[in-house]
Amino acid sequence: MSQFANRVEVMSELAKNMDAYVQEYLNPIDSNWQPSDMLPDSTKENFLNEVKLLQEAAQELPYDYWAVLIGDTITEEALPTYESWLMAMDSVNQVEDQGQGWVQWIRSWTAEENRHGNLLSTYLYLSGKVDMRAMAVSTQYLISDGFDIGTSSDPYRNFVYTSFQEMATNISHRRTASLAKQHGNPQLSRMCAQIAADELRHAKAYRRFVSEIFKLDPSEMMLAFADMMKKKIVMPAHFLREINGQKSSLFEHFSDAAQRIGVYTTQDYVTIMQGLIQDWEVEKITGLNDAAEKARDYVAALPARLERLADRIKIPELSYPFTWIA
Ligand SMILES: [Fe+2]
Ligand SMILES: [Fe+2]
Repeated sequence: MSQFANRVEVMSELAKNMDAYVQEYLNPIDSNWQPSDMLPDSTKENFLNEVKLLQEAAQELPYDYWAVLIGDTITEEALPTYESWLMAMDSVNQVEDQGQGWVQWIRSWTAEENRHGNLLSTYLYLSGKVDMRAMAVSTQYLISDGFDIGTSSDPYRNFVYTSFQEMATNISHRRTASLAKQHGNPQLSRMCAQIAADELRHAKAYRRFVSEIFKLDPSEMMLAFADMMKKKIVMPAHFLREINGQKSSLFEHFSDAAQRIGVYTTQDYVTIMQGLIQDWEVEKITGLNDAAEKARDYVAALPARLERLADRIKIPELSYPFTWIA
């Protein structure tokens, strides 16, 4: 039996360390990078010339790359959905907490994340390659539709989700960075790499929170982990749609493009899962109740099972014509 009766107690135990977590996993605002550090400065005389160079370099990037970069940007731009979802977790109370504890974490994390969509969408605007109206429509739909990622308001399930999701964004931004470099675009490469570094820090934070919860409430944490793995982690972009508002298979087309250029693949999904299992030392966790023992065995066997399935997946060779790309 856990010494803590419920999740609210566990979460408030963790919240006692919040200042230390913020210091370790988030950057001080004044010295943090900002989108303008990496973009042409419109107050400068050579602005138009820099934009011209940016647009020339953009010509070298392939079609699927644009599809992926735009989809990634829309995902980042749906940040209001993520912030409000996290604020609604049990044990988080925006009014009573007065900016302390988990409210402090969620706000500060959001403030860092907010730079990602800002940087990427400004780049896309300047690139001359993107139908900004079509992209904005998709973004507005994604925020307006909201999402259901299967976590309910449970903090344990939410932290499994964010641990996974931050790793997934780290991988995809890291890959768009190296592809940009290969296509002779060091400027865009630097942008994606900066974002990827943020995502990695965030992933470490959420993984740490789960590690701490495993110490305090192992059975419930294990059950939450297994439940999220069973449901599969759905990417926020899963709910994407285009102009005309049709609920479509747009996410599949986006995901196919990402698989084709190797930015995010089914194998990556399995690798992230393996990483979490190792990081949380799932196989060594003891003191579990019967249900949690079963959950641990289920989770431990899952990567090998998914790996066999990943081998069999066929990706369509042809690109889908996205309204986003001019
Ligand atoms: Fe992000
Ligand atoms: Fe993130």
